[in-house]
Amino acid sequence: MCGIVGYIGHRDACEVIMKGLCRLEYRGYDSAGIAMIEPGGIAVRKREGKLSGLAELLEESPLRGHCGIGHTRWATHGEPDTPNSHPHTDCSGHIALVHNGIIENYLSLRMALIEEGHTFTSKTDSEVLVHLVEKYYQGNLLDAVKRAVASAEGAYAIAVISDRTPDEIVVARKASPLVIGVGEGEGFIASDVPAILEYTNRVLYLNDNELARVTRDGIAIYDLSLKPLAREPVTIEWTLEQAEKGGYETFMLKEIYEQPSSFQDVLRGRILPGRDGVTLAMKGIDDAFIRSLEKVSIISCGTACYAGMGGRYLLEHFTDLAVEVDYSSEFRYRCPKLDRNTLVMTVSQSGETADTIASLRMAREKGCKIVSVVNVVGSTIDRESDGVIHTHAGPEIGVASTKAYTAQLGALVLFALHVGRVRGQVTPADARAIIEELESLPGKIDRALATEGAVRSIAQKHFRVKSAFYLGRGFNYPNALEGALKLKEISYLHAEGYPAGEMKHGPNALIDRDFLVVCICTRSVRYDKMISNIKEVEARGGRIVAVGTEGDPNLKDIAGDVIYVPETMEELSPIVNVIPLQLFAYHIARLRGCDIDKPRNLAKSVTVE
Ligand code: M6R
Repeated sequence: MCGIVGYIGHRDACEVIMKGLCRLEYRGYDSAGIAMIEPGGIAVRKREGKLSGLAELLEESPLRGHCGIGHTRWATHGEPDTPNSHPHTDCSGHIALVHNGIIENYLSLRMALIEEGHTFTSKTDSEVLVHLVEKYYQGNLLDAVKRAVASAEGAYAIAVISDRTPDEIVVARKASPLVIGVGEGEGFIASDVPAILEYTNRVLYLNDNELARVTRDGIAIYDLSLKPLAREPVTIEWTLEQAEKGGYETFMLKEIYEQPSSFQDVLRGRILPGRDGVTLAMKGIDDAFIRSLEKVSIISCGTACYAGMGGRYLLEHFTDLAVEVDYSSEFRYRCPKLDRNTLVMTVSQSGETADTIASLRMAREKGCKIVSVVNVVGSTIDRESDGVIHTHAGPEIGVASTKAYTAQLGALVLFALHVGRVRGQVTPADARAIIEELESLPGKIDRALATEGAVRSIAQKHFRVKSAFYLGRGFNYPNALEGALKLKEISYLHAEGYPAGEMKHGPNALIDRDFLVVCICTRSVRYDKMISNIKEVEARGGRIVAVGTEGDPNLKDIAGDVIYVPETMEELSPIVNVIPLQLFAYHIARLRGCDIDKPRNLAKSVTVE
């Protein structure tokens, strides 16, 4: 998500921080800033847009000092503008803070702090943290930060400086990465190793619920009761390029492995305290409107469209609404029957896909309200929608969408659940059961990732095939389409997703011993029908790779290879089942020697028609 860099020592801190922020530039960001301890106090320079804009500002009005913190922001709460960019300062201007993560209870904290007399200058969740530090500061910055983070729920990596204690940077971490670089008479902090690798390859990793004081003389790590913790630095052997990918060989693989935490981030701050519903904070969409709805029309492209199709199954399952799904490029040129009682939903990672934007505008002209599931805050679709559910998946660099897809599905589950509760079609007890299962998914995604070794061996057997079908039914039919898209876009193999029941209506004619058929057959109400469909393929000699539920005794007898994933509710199963499909496409592409992060003929964001 956001990038953090900090420095204390004998060098020009501004130069170290700017270089470090540039090293994190590849991850994407929308604004940047630096706070420095200068002789006259804390000075801040920050600006919306690229680092070149911040560099211009620093030319006009330089920062000079040896202790500072910097940040590149990937907006989550509040638009990507200058007031919302980091660092944030407290009311007195004596404390500055940068944050990466999401503070789930920021609204209640903000209200309480305003009542106590604090003045806020941004719309971010992060700003509450600097006011909390101010509130608790009594001459000891470490103690104030400890007390501040004790009030915060959610995820954070923070770095804090104060001109009252100018010889230290205090950092804290929970569920967002933070490393401390060890130097001679100097210390570095960063959200990611590449930012500081030019200066040191000896780093201390901060764990969850730990704080540290970084000074010129050394680094001290503490637990939340300020008990000192012993930690030895590790030596990083990675090249800069390896470090950018977190040690993974590609961004796509890194992003596949980020899914336990990116999925957790979709849920953050959205579960109601009673756990019988969710809050989505869709500004222009109230409960009365949701009750008045008759139809939902979902429009999007590519992977986002398959997430949208998953959304149709969810909305039809949890509500009584009629739901349509379209590719944006078709929707904009047909004559859809839309009116005020139709909600148009768009799904987009980038928020800049040309066909989806055009469809959104067409729907708006017909008087529809728009709710969008968007990853990039401040993007065109984000700005032009009445209600937005941000997926909080963080920057996705690999062209092939992976973590954005599972985050989109998570957002759509939350939306369907919310609409079902508001319209009285989901009971509080059902909502509790779904929420409990949603919260177990990061762990189940993790277990699904553990199939990678098995998936790699299966890919080894099949990477020379010429064509593949991906079959699924119900909630997993869109997942079959997504599995096939992943394979074709990164491995250049012909692949098609099909509803399994459709095979006997034509596609079965293609099956022979060289045809790969990937079948999603985890436990579901249509499990027996899916088994029959797989047997039809078996009878024609197809090469079957099945994704099944752990403990399933049947699949191994009919499929050549089976990848077992943890069981979850059928409605949520696409979120787990897609993991081995992503890994399978990945390893096939790798074995075929393809450029996985930059597949030929494709762009990450399709901003032209
Ligand atoms: O940014 P968007 O989500 O609107 O992009 C939509 C598609 O272009 C995108 O999902 C594309 O299909 C991916 N490369 C698939 O991995």
